[in-house]
Amino acid sequence: MNTSITTDLEKCRNLLKEGQLIAIPTETVYGLAANALDSKAVKRIFEMKGRPSFNPLIVHIHQMEQLPILAKDIPKKAYDLAEAFWPGSLTLILPKQDIVPEIITGGKSTVGVRMPNHPLTQELLKGLPFPLAAPSANPFTRVSPTSAQHVWDYFGDRIPAILDGGPCQVGLESTIIGFEGDTPILYRKGGIPREAIEAVVGELRVSTENETSPEAPGMLLKHYSPRTPLIVCDDIREALKQHSHKRIGVLSFFQEDFPSATKVIILSKNKMMEEAAMSLFEALHTLDASGLDLILAERFREKGLGSSINDRLFRAQN
Ligand code: TXA
Ligand code: MG
Repeated sequence: MNTSITTDLEKCRNLLKEGQLIAIPTETVYGLAANALDSKAVKRIFEMKGRPSFNPLIVHIHQMEQLPILAKDIPKKAYDLAEAFWPGSLTLILPKQDIVPEIITGGKSTVGVRMPNHPLTQELLKGLPFPLAAPSANPFTRVSPTSAQHVWDYFGDRIPAILDGGPCQVGLESTIIGFEGDTPILYRKGGIPREAIEAVVGELRVSTENETSPEAPGMLLKHYSPRTPLIVCDDIREALKQHSHKRIGVLSFFQEDFPSATKVIILSKNKMMEEAAMSLFEALHTLDASGLDLILAERFREKGLGSSINDRLFRAQN
């Protein structure tokens, strides 16, 4: 296929109206998008990703008025969160309206909705008569793409267009919040720290059906995985000694002095958590393409975005 990496919004809209898939930039990661109201187009997303059909997709909107069209029985706390964080890296899981095709929700009675904060994709959505269903634009279980090039590397000749919005500024997938009655539940840690959400709606319960249960596929344990084995460690120097006969890549927060490593990537020289999150998947893509035997990744402090980064690192380890 003649794939183009493009900024031509009109071309992208026309492809989507024809029922085709394209990749779109968001502030979190790139998505593999289709008309959310077209079951046939949405089915092709699952096929392209090799994703099991029980694993539901997020629907992307650009204005608040679209929320009650897609979801019903919306708790006040959901509106509070939407007002605080949209457009942004927050997905709300809410009871679905009939208009949302079953294929999107994997047969569930709920739908995930998000308003992404990326100017190009907002512009794209504004000119479309339908919202966009989009999972991260990576094959099932692989590392999410944070640049047009990453998407190209995965799907280059299989989709007609990749809308190029530059590198993703948040770099971690959205934080996912659902509800039991009025109680907010954390389904996936992500680009908005748990603490920021709790400042708006009070203490979150963490979904117990996460991690390994197919009931909550967003939290499948093996996920975000490079092909190269990865170990999360507290003491990288010690781990380097233990694996001294191997070609090792180090993924470090800010330290750079690891003489026995084959390759070292620093996530943020200035010790900025936002920068570390933004650089994480790019670093995993690079290390994975560097012919290494093993990646040693430094564990972050379990706080704020550090907790979301750790979540991705632990899944990458499996
Ligand atoms: O930042 C993001 O959320 C990115 C960008 C493209 O928006 N999207 C993304 O989609 O990460 P995806 O499909 O890779 O991950 C969304 C997760 C899925 O693993 C799915 O299980 C969960 O959200 N999810 C979606 N709808 C759900 C629902 N109704 N109930 C429970 N989990 C749901
Ligand atoms: Mg994903």
